Amino acid sequence: MVGPEPFRLEGDTLHVLDQRLIPRRIVYRKGRTAREVARLIRRMVVRGAPMIAIVAAYALYVQALRNPRKLSEGWRALKGSRPTAVNLHNVLEEALPLVERGASAEEFLRFAREVEERERRINERIAELGLRFFPRPMRVLTYCNTGMWATVYPGTALGIIRWAHRRGLLKHVFVPETAPYMQGARLTAYEMQIEGIPYSVVPDNHIPFLMERGMVDVAVVGADRITSDGYVFNKIGTLSVALASKRFGVPFVVAAPSTTFDPNPYSDDIVVERRSDVPREDYLYYAFDITPPDLVGAIVSERGVWIP
Ligand code: MRU
Repeated sequence: MVGPEPFRLEGDTLHVLDQRLIPRRIVYRKGRTAREVARLIRRMVVRGAPMIAIVAAYALYVQALRNPRKLSEGWRALKGSRPTAVNLHNVLEEALPLVERGASAEEFLRFAREVEERERRINERIAELGLRFFPRPMRVLTYCNTGMWATVYPGTALGIIRWAHRRGLLKHVFVPETAPYMQGARLTAYEMQIEGIPYSVVPDNHIPFLMERGMVDVAVVGADRITSDGYVFNKIGTLSVALASKRFGVPFVVAAPSTTFDPNPYSDDIVVERRSDVPREDYLYYAFDITPPDLVGAIVSERGVWIP
């Protein structure tokens, strides 16, 4: 892997890459307790559905090492840090029996490593399976950032794009800026640069126009939650990609690990985050939107391809 690592564990401290500063500066923030890591997640220092879950698993280890009596409290802080992406909640539910029986720090470390390693294997499989949407050298449009800081290298949607590039099946990647945090312009563009993949950053409002011009052969995006009935929660703007894809006949593909699957159907009770750190009081920023199944061409997970 090339590029700064998303986090590193040094003794009893987790050092988390501040993704808000990439690519201008490479800065790591300390997470010494589960509460501190929860704060880093809430403040978008670390983001991306699978990476939030991985970092949370390591946060439990650090907590178990430093102050196991506060494990339940730390677990709850993590659980409340970001509500929409389901990976965090899936992993925390998986860890709950360890928390409840006060497992040893070593057990938490083993758990965290397994969570991370599982995600790596899954992503490699998704990258392989996603190649079926690249029958020839393609011009692809992605959205937000689904690469080595959002999950484990090679990424989900970006994993497919990387694999396609290696196999000579990629002509160009269009990278929408993804306002307001600019995950596309800053993170995805940087990842493309590092790997020498040809790309252009485009303002978010260019997406339908690029498709109308016939400049996009396939759209591949990630997800933060996929309900059992096929609703895709992802970075706000994904719904616009899906609508434009439908209108202009571009295949719309969602790449996500099974750890992003919500076993329950869509419900209004699922919290769609709104960000409070807006530049002006009169701004309204939702973090995610919801793409209904009839707009989703295919969902690629490590288990196969699902047409919802
Ligand atoms: O708010 P973010 O940056 O955490 O949103 C991230 C996304 O929407 C990604 O597309 C999603 O988490 C998939 S990452 C493999």
